[in-house]
Amino acid sequence: MIVLGVETSCDETSAAIISDNTVLSSVVSSQEIHSKFGGVVPELASRAHVRLIVPVVEKAFKDAGIAKQAIDGLAVTHGPGLVGALLVGVNYIKGLALALDKPFFGVNHIEGHIYGNLLSQPREVQFPIIFLIVSGGHTQIVLMRDHLNYTILGKTRDDAVGEAFDKGGKLLGLGYPGGPEIDRLAQTGDPEFHRFPRAALKNDPYGFSYSGLKTSLLVYLNGISEKEKERSLNDICASYQAAAVDVLVTKTIKAAREYKAGQIGIAGGVAANSFLRQQLQQACSKNGLNLYLPDLIYCTDNAAMIARAGLEHLKMGSVSSQSLNAVPALVLSSVSGTS
Ligand code: KG4
Ligand code: ZN
Repeated sequence: MIVLGVETSCDETSAAIISDNTVLSSVVSSQEIHSKFGGVVPELASRAHVRLIVPVVEKAFKDAGIAKQAIDGLAVTHGPGLVGALLVGVNYIKGLALALDKPFFGVNHIEGHIYGNLLSQPREVQFPIIFLIVSGGHTQIVLMRDHLNYTILGKTRDDAVGEAFDKGGKLLGLGYPGGPEIDRLAQTGDPEFHRFPRAALKNDPYGFSYSGLKTSLLVYLNGISEKEKERSLNDICASYQAAAVDVLVTKTIKAAREYKAGQIGIAGGVAANSFLRQQLQQACSKNGLNLYLPDLIYCTDNAAMIARAGLEHLKMGSVSSQSLNAVPALVLSSVSGTS
């Protein structure tokens, strides 16, 4: 089955064509304009998507070397995300599906991240899998019993972990997004240089809270001189990163044990973090668990993951209608593509 996927939920305009588990083409155009504002400006994102969507899709077909009529179906992110950004992809795909007379499916962006991981696996995966979803907008632990079957075990009650990385990066005077920069600087830093807080939430074993971590960094930085900050930058990054990652690893392993899942998977932009990957690898070997790591190119937003998730739905005969809308706060559930 050949599927075109489109992703426009935030600041990446992306299109990809896959044939079952093989990626024929993947085009990701990252909107540079936001970096000078230190965060995504929704209106600018929508305008850039409008400008980029046609050339990006055209390039995806050209790179794959196939004609539009050769696809069997289409898939598009319809939430969660920025409403104006989502609408560009949703309306484009609805129009193209109508013109080509092909079925299409509205994919949940978080489900897309999960399939970005599954797409990276060389062999058939085993279920159940405990998925740790960590991105700029989401932090949640999901029990996946089978394809398209999700139970959310817990999520963040305030900031997402990617947001903690990005806001931390801003406080440290690093560029946007801060996550990759903190990861890079932390490589040569000491994670035990300073102990930042790890939020353990009473009666919420799989919940997260990251707003306190960012505040504790601010308080810490206010207590040291600019010189000290510069001298210890790598150590501060490593300590901050360790606090962010520790809770993720502890709670994910706990979930795997409680739900008797032999597999752990990670997905989303922060799944590219080298310390998280390394810590999870160690914890999984210690606990006899399989770890599914996504390829780095399928961690941050891309359309191949959306095409792959859409393909799974289309294969089951699920099709969205022309009334499909953008749903900015769409929650991950076992059925999507209907609103
Ligand atoms: O999945 P994604 O592209 O967008 C959302 O759906 O939110 O994730 C972007 C997030 C940003 O917060 C970015 O800082 C973070 O992923 N990120 C990282 C790394 N690479 C990307 N965070 C920590 N370490 C990294 N290596
Ligand atoms: Zn994402």
